[in-house]
Amino acid sequence: MTVAPDAPILLFDSGVGGLSILAPARAALPTAPIIYAADSAGFPYGTKSEAEIAARVPALLGRLVERYRPRLAVIACNTASTIALSHVRAALDIPVVGTVPAIKPAALLSKSRVFGVLGTDATVRQPYVDRLAAEHGADCIMLRHGSAALVQLAEAKLRGEPLDPRIAQDALRGLTDQPHGDRMDMVVLACTHFPLVEQELAAAAGRPIGFVHGGAGIARRILFLTQGQLWPDATSPGAAVFTRLDDQVEALRPALAGYGLMQVDAL
Ligand code: DGL
Repeated sequence: MTVAPDAPILLFDSGVGGLSILAPARAALPTAPIIYAADSAGFPYGTKSEAEIAARVPALLGRLVERYRPRLAVIACNTASTIALSHVRAALDIPVVGTVPAIKPAALLSKSRVFGVLGTDATVRQPYVDRLAAEHGADCIMLRHGSAALVQLAEAKLRGEPLDPRIAQDALRGLTDQPHGDRMDMVVLACTHFPLVEQELAAAAGRPIGFVHGGAGIARRILFLTQGQLWPDATSPGAAVFTRLDDQVEALRPALAGYGLMQVDAL
């Protein structure tokens, strides 16, 4: 089937985290029309049960695909991907790219053979994480920690609010205070919100720790899946769509505009 040049790419997250995927995707495909969808009414996902996420995410993506007719959807959220990717793929008839913890590069890059996985509580307990560790880092010690506060920190940063440095410190300490944590030299940012506060995490580390996430890999995957398709000649403003519009969403407008999302809609 031919894809119309103006058919958008849909990126989906519970909140602003997916912007850490949007940035490399836009760099790879500068004129790609973008719809960025955030489930503000369901935010946060990381403290929800598997059943809630598995029921909510495919239904929402179904509505979004019906409304925007994207050529491809990206679940720009580790929590939703590690729990609901197969359900979403079964429900949609377009390619769906998921975001899963970047354990492979962390294991490749770790010299000490101790790396951390920092995600949401829901993500770090997923068997998917154990499978990735067994496959790519069998000779490593993997430490894991879930932080809901760090998700809120990223949202607050994009709303332009003052940030409490203790939040990033506590999140990192959740890893470094574990046995072998003093040897940890790599951290997987296994929540798409966390690359947005990478600077704060690096400042909190107090020693060199490398941070990896899946953004660049996802951009490459989008390029691969859309090979040969046509795109508009010029960049068009993107749109952000929220499942609930409120003051917190209003406060995000300048940050969204910085990512090329000039229009804000309600789903
Ligand atoms: N950004 C999401 C992730 O990658 C989830 C954050 C949340 O809603 O708790 O896991």
